[in-house]
Amino acid sequence: MTTASRVVVGDVDEVLTTTRAVRKRLDLQRPVPRELVEECIDIARQAPIAENAEHTRFVVVDDPALRGEMAAVYRRAVEQFVLEPMRRRSQERAERGEPSRELPARMKRIMESAYHLMEHLHEVPVLVLAGSDDRAPREPLGAHASGFWGSVYPTVWSLQLAFRSRGLGSSLTCIHLHLADEMADVLALPESFHQVALLPVAYTHGLDFKPAPRLPRDEVVHWNGW
Ligand SMILES: Cc1cc2nc3c(=O)[nH]c(=O)nc-3n(C[C@H](O)[C@H](O)[C@H](O)COP(=O)(O)O)c2cc1C
Repeated sequence: MTTASRVVVGDVDEVLTTTRAVRKRLDLQRPVPRELVEECIDIARQAPIAENAEHTRFVVVDDPALRGEMAAVYRRAVEQFVLEPMRRRSQERAERGEPSRELPARMKRIMESAYHLMEHLHEVPVLVLAGSDDRAPREPLGAHASGFWGSVYPTVWSLQLAFRSRGLGSSLTCIHLHLADEMADVLALPESFHQVALLPVAYTHGLDFKPAPRLPRDEVVHWNGW
Protein backbone atom coordinates (compact mmCIF):
# COMPACT_ATOMS: atom_id res chain seq x y z
CA MET A 1 0.00 0.00 0.00
CA THR A 2 1.37 3.44 -0.89
CA THR A 3 1.43 6.34 1.55
CA ALA A 4 -1.29 8.26 -0.33
CA SER A 5 -3.71 5.34 -0.37
CA ARG A 6 -3.75 5.25 3.43
CA VAL A 7 -5.07 8.83 3.60
CA VAL A 8 -8.76 8.92 4.52
CA VAL A 9 -9.06 12.62 5.40
CA GLY A 10 -7.24 14.41 2.61
CA ASP A 11 -8.34 18.03 2.86
CA VAL A 12 -5.54 19.98 4.55
CA ASP A 13 -7.80 22.56 6.20
CA GLU A 14 -10.10 19.83 7.51
CA VAL A 15 -7.15 17.98 9.01
CA LEU A 16 -5.80 21.19 10.57
CA THR A 17 -9.12 22.21 12.10
CA THR A 18 -10.52 18.86 13.20
CA THR A 19 -7.52 17.14 14.74
CA ARG A 20 -8.94 16.99 18.24
CA ALA A 21 -7.86 15.20 21.38
CA VAL A 22 -9.57 11.83 20.84
CA ARG A 23 -10.18 9.87 24.02
CA LYS A 24 -13.68 8.40 24.05
CA ARG A 25 -13.80 7.49 20.36
CA LEU A 26 -10.60 5.47 20.22
CA ASP A 27 -11.13 1.98 18.77
CA LEU A 28 -9.43 -0.12 21.42
CA GLN A 29 -10.01 -3.39 19.56
CA ARG A 30 -8.48 -2.58 16.16
CA PRO A 31 -4.73 -3.12 15.92
CA VAL A 32 -2.61 -0.29 14.53
CA PRO A 33 0.03 -1.53 12.06
CA ARG A 34 3.59 -0.62 13.03
CA GLU A 35 4.41 0.54 9.49
CA LEU A 36 1.56 3.05 9.61
CA VAL A 37 2.93 4.58 12.82
CA GLU A 38 6.41 4.70 11.29
CA GLU A 39 5.08 6.32 8.12
CA CYS A 40 3.41 9.04 10.22
CA ILE A 41 6.61 9.57 12.21
CA ASP A 42 8.59 10.00 8.98
CA ILE A 43 6.10 12.64 7.82
CA ALA A 44 6.21 14.41 11.19
CA ARG A 45 10.00 14.56 11.13
CA GLN A 46 9.73 17.04 8.27
CA ALA A 47 8.65 19.70 10.82
CA PRO A 48 11.03 22.61 11.52
CA ILE A 49 13.97 22.02 13.88
CA ALA A 50 16.31 24.51 15.54
CA GLU A 51 19.89 24.70 14.26
CA ASN A 52 18.96 21.99 11.78
CA ALA A 53 19.81 19.46 14.47
CA GLU A 54 17.54 16.45 14.86
CA HIS A 55 17.11 15.80 18.55
CA THR A 56 13.56 14.49 18.71
CA ARG A 57 13.30 10.80 19.57
CA PHE A 58 10.27 8.50 19.79
CA VAL A 59 9.66 5.51 22.00
CA VAL A 60 6.76 3.60 20.46
CA VAL A 61 5.09 1.02 22.65
CA ASP A 62 2.65 -1.67 21.52
CA ASP A 63 3.65 -4.33 24.06
CA PRO A 64 0.58 -4.87 26.30
CA ALA A 65 2.57 -5.42 29.50
CA LEU A 66 4.58 -2.23 29.00
CA ARG A 67 1.43 -0.29 28.11
CA GLY A 68 -0.04 -1.49 31.38
CA GLU A 69 2.95 -0.23 33.33
CA MET A 70 2.91 3.12 31.50
CA ALA A 71 -0.81 3.52 32.14
CA ALA A 72 -0.24 2.85 35.84
CA VAL A 73 2.31 5.70 35.98
CA TYR A 74 -0.13 7.95 34.11
CA ARG A 75 -2.95 7.08 36.55
CA ARG A 76 -0.78 7.77 39.57
CA ALA A 77 0.17 11.17 38.12
CA VAL A 78 -3.47 12.12 37.46
CA GLU A 79 -4.47 10.96 40.94
CA GLN A 80 -1.61 12.78 42.68
CA PHE A 81 -1.41 15.98 40.64
CA VAL A 82 -4.98 16.54 39.39
CA LEU A 83 -7.63 14.66 41.36
CA GLU A 84 -6.12 14.90 44.83
CA PRO A 85 -5.53 18.71 44.61
CA MET A 86 -9.09 19.13 43.26
CA ARG A 87 -10.52 17.16 46.18
CA ARG A 88 -8.38 19.15 48.63
CA ARG A 89 -9.51 22.49 47.19
CA SER A 90 -13.16 21.52 47.29
CA GLN A 91 -12.82 20.27 50.88
CA GLU A 92 -11.16 23.55 51.88
CA ARG A 93 -14.01 25.49 50.26
CA ALA A 94 -16.54 23.36 52.12
CA GLU A 95 -14.70 23.99 55.41
CA ARG A 96 -14.88 27.75 54.73
CA GLY A 97 -18.61 27.34 54.13
CA GLU A 98 -18.31 28.32 50.46
CA PRO A 99 -20.63 26.67 47.89
CA SER A 100 -19.05 23.97 45.71
CA ARG A 101 -17.84 25.30 42.35
CA GLU A 102 -19.29 24.04 39.07
CA LEU A 103 -16.81 23.67 36.23
CA PRO A 104 -17.83 25.37 32.94
CA ALA A 105 -19.60 22.83 30.66
CA ARG A 106 -16.73 22.50 28.15
CA MET A 107 -14.17 22.04 30.91
CA LYS A 108 -16.42 19.44 32.52
CA ARG A 109 -16.58 17.51 29.23
CA ILE A 110 -12.79 17.66 28.85
CA MET A 111 -12.30 16.44 32.42
CA GLU A 112 -14.71 13.54 31.91
CA SER A 113 -12.97 12.64 28.68
CA ALA A 114 -9.52 12.92 30.31
CA TYR A 115 -10.71 10.64 33.10
CA HIS A 116 -11.99 8.13 30.53
CA LEU A 117 -8.59 8.12 28.80
CA MET A 118 -6.85 7.56 32.11
CA GLU A 119 -9.05 4.54 32.86
CA HIS A 120 -8.49 2.97 29.43
CA LEU A 121 -4.93 4.01 28.64
CA HIS A 122 -3.58 0.47 29.00
CA GLU A 123 -6.03 -0.67 26.29
CA VAL A 124 -4.95 1.90 23.70
CA PRO A 125 -3.06 -0.10 21.03
CA VAL A 126 -0.06 2.23 20.65
CA LEU A 127 1.55 4.73 23.01
CA VAL A 128 4.10 7.13 21.48
CA LEU A 129 6.43 8.91 23.86
CA ALA A 130 8.18 11.83 22.16
CA GLY A 131 11.12 13.69 23.63
CA SER A 132 14.49 15.22 22.98
CA ASP A 133 18.08 14.21 23.52
CA ASP A 134 19.17 17.86 23.26
CA ARG A 135 20.70 19.65 26.23
CA ALA A 136 17.79 20.74 28.49
CA PRO A 137 17.26 24.53 28.54
CA ARG A 138 18.61 26.22 31.67
CA GLU A 139 16.24 29.20 31.36
CA PRO A 140 12.47 28.77 30.88
CA LEU A 141 12.40 31.44 28.14
CA GLY A 142 14.80 32.64 25.49
CA ALA A 143 16.45 31.31 22.39
CA HIS A 144 17.65 27.98 23.72
CA ALA A 145 14.34 27.20 25.44
CA SER A 146 12.44 28.08 22.26
CA GLY A 147 14.83 25.97 20.22
CA PHE A 148 14.42 23.03 22.57
CA TRP A 149 10.62 23.00 22.88
CA GLY A 150 10.08 24.38 19.38
CA SER A 151 11.98 21.50 17.86
CA VAL A 152 9.77 18.90 19.50
CA TYR A 153 6.26 20.34 19.49
CA PRO A 154 5.88 21.04 15.76
CA THR A 155 6.93 17.42 15.18
CA VAL A 156 4.46 16.16 17.76
CA TRP A 157 1.64 18.20 16.22
CA SER A 158 2.56 17.07 12.70
CA LEU A 159 2.44 13.52 14.00
CA GLN A 160 -1.08 14.06 15.31
CA LEU A 161 -2.08 15.54 11.94
CA ALA A 162 -0.57 12.63 10.01
CA PHE A 163 -2.41 10.21 12.30
CA ARG A 164 -5.67 12.07 11.77
CA SER A 165 -5.32 12.04 7.97
CA ARG A 166 -4.96 8.26 8.15
CA GLY A 167 -7.98 7.69 10.39
CA LEU A 168 -6.04 7.45 13.64
CA GLY A 169 -6.84 9.52 16.71
CA SER A 170 -4.43 10.69 19.37
CA SER A 171 -4.26 13.16 22.22
CA LEU A 172 -1.41 15.27 23.46
CA THR A 173 -0.76 14.38 27.09
CA CYS A 174 1.91 15.54 29.52
CA ILE A 175 0.53 14.84 32.97
CA HIS A 176 2.75 11.79 33.53
CA LEU A 177 5.81 14.09 33.35
CA HIS A 178 5.22 14.78 37.04
CA LEU A 179 6.43 11.20 37.43
CA ALA A 180 8.86 11.19 34.49
CA ASP A 181 11.43 9.18 36.45
CA GLU A 182 8.94 6.35 36.93
CA MET A 183 8.20 6.31 33.18
CA ALA A 184 11.94 6.33 32.50
CA ASP A 185 12.29 3.22 34.67
CA VAL A 186 9.48 1.41 32.84
CA LEU A 187 11.03 2.09 29.43
CA ALA A 188 14.70 1.99 30.42
CA LEU A 189 15.17 5.51 29.07
CA PRO A 190 18.67 7.01 29.12
CA GLU A 191 19.24 10.15 31.21
CA SER A 192 20.04 12.09 28.05
CA PHE A 193 16.45 11.66 26.82
CA HIS A 194 14.01 14.34 28.04
CA GLN A 195 10.40 13.23 27.78
CA VAL A 196 8.06 15.85 26.30
CA ALA A 197 4.70 14.31 25.38
CA LEU A 198 2.85 11.03 25.38
CA LEU A 199 0.39 10.29 22.56
CA PRO A 200 -2.07 7.42 22.90
CA VAL A 201 -2.91 6.31 19.35
CA ALA A 202 -5.76 4.22 17.92
CA TYR A 203 -8.13 4.13 14.98
CA THR A 204 -11.14 6.35 15.66
CA HIS A 205 -14.79 5.33 15.69
CA GLY A 206 -15.92 7.47 12.74
CA LEU A 207 -14.00 10.25 11.07
CA ASP A 208 -16.33 13.19 11.77
CA PHE A 209 -14.64 15.58 14.16
CA LYS A 210 -15.46 19.28 14.47
CA PRO A 211 -13.43 22.45 14.94
CA ALA A 212 -13.24 23.66 18.58
CA PRO A 213 -14.66 27.00 19.74
CA ARG A 214 -12.00 29.70 19.85
CA LEU A 215 -11.94 33.38 20.91
CA PRO A 216 -13.09 35.97 18.35
CA ARG A 217 -10.20 36.73 15.98
CA ASP A 218 -10.12 40.44 16.97
CA GLU A 219 -9.18 39.46 20.52
CA VAL A 220 -6.07 37.60 19.44
CA VAL A 221 -4.78 39.29 16.27
CA HIS A 222 -2.94 42.63 16.35
CA TRP A 223 -1.88 44.22 13.06
CA ASN A 224 1.14 46.53 12.92
CA GLY A 225 1.88 46.44 16.67
CA TRP A 226 -0.11 45.48 19.78
C1 LIG B 1 0.97 20.78 26.53
C2 LIG B 1 -0.34 20.05 26.70
C3 LIG B 1 -0.44 19.03 27.64
C4 LIG B 1 -1.63 18.32 27.81
N1 LIG B 1 -1.70 17.28 28.69
C5 LIG B 1 -2.82 16.53 28.78
C6 LIG B 1 -2.86 15.38 29.60
O1 LIG B 1 -1.90 15.02 30.27
N2 LIG B 1 -4.00 14.63 29.61
C7 LIG B 1 -5.08 14.98 28.88
O2 LIG B 1 -6.08 14.25 28.92
N3 LIG B 1 -5.10 16.10 28.10
C8 LIG B 1 -3.99 16.88 28.03
N4 LIG B 1 -3.96 18.00 27.23
C9 LIG B 1 -5.21 18.49 26.61
C10 LIG B 1 -5.57 17.83 25.31
O3 LIG B 1 -4.48 17.41 24.56
C11 LIG B 1 -6.46 18.74 24.43
O4 LIG B 1 -5.72 19.75 23.85
C12 LIG B 1 -7.61 19.38 25.18
O5 LIG B 1 -8.35 18.41 25.82
C13 LIG B 1 -8.54 20.16 24.22
O6 LIG B 1 -9.20 19.28 23.36
P1 LIG B 1 -9.24 19.53 21.79
O7 LIG B 1 -7.90 19.12 21.28
O8 LIG B 1 -10.33 18.67 21.30
O9 LIG B 1 -9.50 20.99 21.55
C14 LIG B 1 -2.77 18.70 27.05
C15 LIG B 1 -2.66 19.73 26.10
C16 LIG B 1 -1.47 20.41 25.93
C17 LIG B 1 -1.40 21.50 24.89
